[in-house]
Amino acid sequence: MENSTGPIEITGKDSIWACTCMSSWLWPICDGSHHTYGGEGPEEVVLDPAKTYRLCQCFKTANRPFCDGSHLR
Ligand code: FES
Repeated sequence: MENSTGPIEITGKDSIWACTCMSSWLWPICDGSHHTYGGEGPEEVVLDPAKTYRLCQCFKTANRPFCDGSHLR
């Protein structure tokens, strides 16, 4: 069961730029905030466009940028 802070699903993407500075308003996707607030730039995460992925929205995952179910705990 997912709650309001559960993951978002994406599909049809061959890569995403994952935030590593923890300042993005679109976390876990980079929104360029590292240019304003400092910190490391984003990390490219290669995906299979044929697959659906669940991206973490709660900041608790140990497998960033993907949901690992920690939002349920
Ligand atoms: S949304 Fe599932 S672990 Fe963060």
